[in-house]
Amino acid sequence: MTALHSPADLGAELVRQIQSRGANVGVVGGGYVGLSLSLQLVRAGFETFLVDKCRERVRSLLRSETSADGIPSTELDEAQSTGRFHVTDQLSVLRSASVIVLALPTPLRDGIPDLSAVEQVCTELASFLKRGCVVCFESTSYPGTTRSVVLPLLESSGLKEENDLLLTNSPYRIDHAKPAIHVSNTPRLLAALGPISLDVGRVFYETFLDAPIHCTPSVEIAEMAKLYENTFRFVNIGLVNELTILCDKVGANVWEVLQAAHTKPFGWMPFFPGPGAGGHCIPIAPTYLSWFAGQVGVKAPIVAAAQEVNLGMSAFIVQKVTEILRLVDTPLKKAKILMLGIAYKKNVGDVRESGAVRMLKLLQMQGCFLDYCDPLLVHNLEAQLALLPNSNRSLTELDYKQYDLVVIATDHDCFDYPAIVRNSQRVLDLRNATKNILESREKIHLL
Ligand SMILES: NC(=O)c1ccc[n+]([C@@H]2O[C@H](COP(=O)([O-])OP(=O)(O)OC[C@H]3O[C@@H](n4cnc5c(N)ncnc54)[C@H](O)[C@@H]3O)[C@@H](O)[C@H]2O)c1
Repeated sequence: MTALHSPADLGAELVRQIQSRGANVGVVGGGYVGLSLSLQLVRAGFETFLVDKCRERVRSLLRSETSADGIPSTELDEAQSTGRFHVTDQLSVLRSASVIVLALPTPLRDGIPDLSAVEQVCTELASFLKRGCVVCFESTSYPGTTRSVVLPLLESSGLKEENDLLLTNSPYRIDHAKPAIHVSNTPRLLAALGPISLDVGRVFYETFLDAPIHCTPSVEIAEMAKLYENTFRFVNIGLVNELTILCDKVGANVWEVLQAAHTKPFGWMPFFPGPGAGGHCIPIAPTYLSWFAGQVGVKAPIVAAAQEVNLGMSAFIVQKVTEILRLVDTPLKKAKILMLGIAYKKNVGDVRESGAVRMLKLLQMQGCFLDYCDPLLVHNLEAQLALLPNSNRSLTELDYKQYDLVVIATDHDCFDYPAIVRNSQRVLDLRNATKNILESREKIHLL
């Protein structure tokens, strides 16, 4: 790079590098977000360095093994065949990077935001960051993270934002269950602390996005919008679960109530009941939002109420299981139960924060015989099931008849619902997956 005198020179040089694909791009954090982005960047023509501190993860990515939902290993093969895709556990390879994307985990620890991965990486980056690079922060976090956590750590390098170093925020959005929705066609929010950062960020994201980029007036608005999007979903799942409990009490079919409400052509969006709100995004972001509210002295009772209802659904369903079995004089502790689908939602293999797993654990505590079958289960998440009694049963060897109750917990498309109903003694359907089955409906109990 030629000597860059002014911040404007710096921005123009970065734009030139990005547009010519001369910019080396680093992505830190090789989970679902970092991997999807890296593959997209390779496709867009960038020399891409994916850095993950987990050596096992690096080794498996180098072998084109991916457990991330919806990313087939052929996509890694394709990326590797370009010669532009590099995977490593060494952050120092990013010394020469002009663009560094942070796709690091932002989990909860003891119910509060844990930004340790972000802090650790920013501190290390500051030890070698060169003048004239742009850092793009994509992790989900509370308003103020980019300005008050990421920026000071990066500036501890001696580089100053907008003068020597650019910084953007663009929260990641995805729906794992819908293959038609992916990184490149999902509209983006983009924000920055200064105008040069925003311009360079827009040029960078335009290289691999075929969707609108909405620039928010501040990074805090982008951060708050991301938390609100997830919280909106979480709270509405809580509301429909609350309605389900009410319908159960008065003998109404909640699915029929929802079908009726769905005829309203305005001011309505459907959400469906189930064993809770799962995954590692939807249940986490609301806690980030309510934690943030607490920090500024505001109560967030709606988030707390949704949390209580969603977490309580597993116990509510276990109670329903008990009642169904009581009808045939089978005490829960002597029952044989099969749970179909234990991922947190349809057509994904992720069991993190899954309500079905909470149900399995509660049923296990009651002492009944339990089997489960989820053909989509992601292997590296199986450790989370280590304490469960039986391993994941193969779909082909299931004998539905031997169970007192078959619980459809997650309605994956790979299940043959007519066969399940035909061959089972009785079915508890938590997702209305059997709605089109007309025969043997007397066997079916709906949530
Ligand atoms: N997965 C999604 O669908 C999704 C959607 C929207 C937003 N997000 C957000 O994006 C961020 C990343 O999510 P994810 O699903 O990819 O997370 P993940 O937990 O699947 O992966 C994170 C990766 O980062 C690696 N890592 C952890 N600490 C590191 C460090 N110090 N240096 C290098 N690598 C490190 C881990 O080994 C892991 O492979 C989170 O803030 C998440 O909330 C995720």
